[in-house]
Amino acid sequence: MVNKLIIQNPKRDNSARSGRASWYPYYAGFSPKFAHSILESSGLPRGACIVDSWNGSGTTTTSSTGLGYRTYGYDLNPAMVVIAKARLLNRREKSSLWPIAEDILRKSACIESTFTISRDPLNTWFIPSSTAAIRNLEKNIQILLIDSSKFNLLANRDNINSLSDLAAFFYTALFRTVRTIIKKFFTSNPTWVKKPKNKAARLRTGRETIFTIFSAEVRLMIDAIEDEPLVQQNLDGDAHIGIASSDFLPHQDNSVDLILSSPPYCTRIDYAVATMTELAVLGYTLDGSFRELRKKLIGTSTVPKTIPTPPPDWGATCNMFLEQLASHRSKASKSYYYKNHVQYFDAIYRSLKELHRVLIPGGLCALVVQDSYYKDIHNNLPRMFIEMASANGLSLGRKTDFGMTRTMAGINPTIKKYRKVFNATESVLCFINN
Ligand SMILES: C[S@@+](CC[C@H](N)C(=O)[O-])C[C@H]1O[C@@H](n2cnc3c(N)ncnc32)[C@H](O)[C@@H]1O
Repeated sequence: MVNKLIIQNPKRDNSARSGRASWYPYYAGFSPKFAHSILESSGLPRGACIVDSWNGSGTTTTSSTGLGYRTYGYDLNPAMVVIAKARLLNRREKSSLWPIAEDILRKSACIESTFTISRDPLNTWFIPSSTAAIRNLEKNIQILLIDSSKFNLLANRDNINSLSDLAAFFYTALFRTVRTIIKKFFTSNPTWVKKPKNKAARLRTGRETIFTIFSAEVRLMIDAIEDEPLVQQNLDGDAHIGIASSDFLPHQDNSVDLILSSPPYCTRIDYAVATMTELAVLGYTLDGSFRELRKKLIGTSTVPKTIPTPPPDWGATCNMFLEQLASHRSKASKSYYYKNHVQYFDAIYRSLKELHRVLIPGGLCALVVQDSYYKDIHNNLPRMFIEMASANGLSLGRKTDFGMTRTMAGINPTIKKYRKVFNATESVLCFINN
């Protein structure tokens, strides 16, 4: 099967800028065309079980469902779970979306937004009355599509996994509304959002403006369904999107036919910070539940108190890299950066073990992995994955490399001291489960 796979460049392209994929342009996402062609060329029969263990914005799950597969997508970040669910919304529901939006807006306009939530994380960027107007929209989304009996922040509900695609659609519109209003706090780094310098610098957006922006965002999302490329149209497979960690998947041993995923980067991209505003909408408090989530995500820039000693099973390339890193002359290499990388490799190793456990013998696991640099030391992540996978019963069947001209490293000015070139290689690694 592995030789027959059609492997296109995973880099986000025009297929990510139209249709439902454009609802939430995730900088870490791969191209819908890439996901579609690899799944379609797998030759698996309809009903085969496909998993993405780091599902992000749901590129795999959208393509896989469209091809009629039994699809499962997991991410530890609930904001990404909501976005991936929204993307599964069947285009046949399109004509109902605007009437629902009108109802939400009408009901939100009727009641003056007076209720407030103590320590509402949206108050980081907004004055309380602006936050109350946003919560009023959310409350009416919940009444219509989640629970008519009482409003509760999604962070405090235990049912994000059972959120309907429709409710997820309107939450995604709310995410976009908040992003549009606070755009001056976003920087050229897509994974960073600033906070106002003090309370007086918070946004005082009026509720009329908030409602107008929400309605424009819903309109844009509905219109995007029209220009959807054909590949995403026939959504009819069974799909489950939920919160789970890649090292603890809710699947039986030997039950998954194919895994298609892109693990978190090893360049200290903080996936929680990148979605800080979405998590604030869900009610993640910055010094509480947000901090906890951040620590759990692979790729986080936080470090734990204790780390394991790198075992030989992590492979020669990883162990050598860690030795070089620990003896690098730059500040904090031996302490913070070493710990941070060990934590990353430990989580990846445990995840590969889990992927091996859930795959059927002979099952396929296609992972998109990028190399990078720590200062001037090459982090050959694809090779490390190959060695770690091999220690976990996954043999490399095929490796396809794509050159990339620009990487996230290029936006960090301090790196220019160590390197002049910021090119990277993105590898699609196809493993066969033993
Ligand atoms: C490179 S992104 C995947 C992007 C995806 N292929 C797409 O097209 O949108 C990696 C994802 O892994 C998630 N993640 C980080 N740690 C995780 C963990 N331990 N378990 C599951 N997901 C995790 C992050 O939240 C992020 O969304």
